[in-house]
Amino acid sequence: MKMIPYFLGSLLFVTASLALAENATVSPTNVSEIENLTEEAKNGELLHNAKCVVCHSHLVYIRENRKIHNYDSLKIQVERCTESLGIEWWPDDDEMLAVIAYLNEKYYKFEKPADE
Ligand code: HEC
Repeated sequence: MKMIPYFLGSLLFVTASLALAENATVSPTNVSEIENLTEEAKNGELLHNAKCVVCHSHLVYIRENRKIHNYDSLKIQVERCTESLGIEWWPDDDEMLAVIAYLNEKYYKFEKPADE
C-alpha cells in the first residue's frame, strides 16, 4: 500500500517536468518572431551568428560606450569587421545588407536614410 503515494508522486513529477520543458523551448526562430524582425533581418541573424561572433558577442552592440551612433557609421563598421573576417561581402551584397538590417532592427534602431 505504501507504493501508491510514491507512484502518484512520481507521476506528478513527470507531468510537471514535461510542462516545464515545453515552456523552456524557445528556439531562435521564436525569438525573432517575438521581436518582429523582417525576413531580411532574420536572415541576417543567421549570417551574423555564423560569422560574426568569433571576436565579440552581441554585448559590443549594447555596451554603454558603444561607438556607433548612426546608420552610416553602422554600415562602415560592419564593412570594416567583414574585411577583418576575410569574407568577401561587398557593401551592397544581400548578406551585408541583411546583417546590417539585423543589427539595426534588433540593437541600434537608427532611422534609415531615405535612399537606403
Ligand atoms: C576579427 C575580429 C572581428 C570580427 C570577426 C568581427 N568584428 Fe565587429 N568588432 C571587432 C572589434 C575589435 C570591435 C570593437 C572596436 C572598438 O571597440 O573600437 C568591433 C566592433 C563592432 C561593432 C561596433 C560596436 C559598437 O561599439 O557600437 C559592430 C556593429 C560590429 N563590430 C559588427 C560586426 C559584424 C556584423 C561582424 C560580422 C560580419 C563582426 N563585427 C565581426 C572585431 C571583429
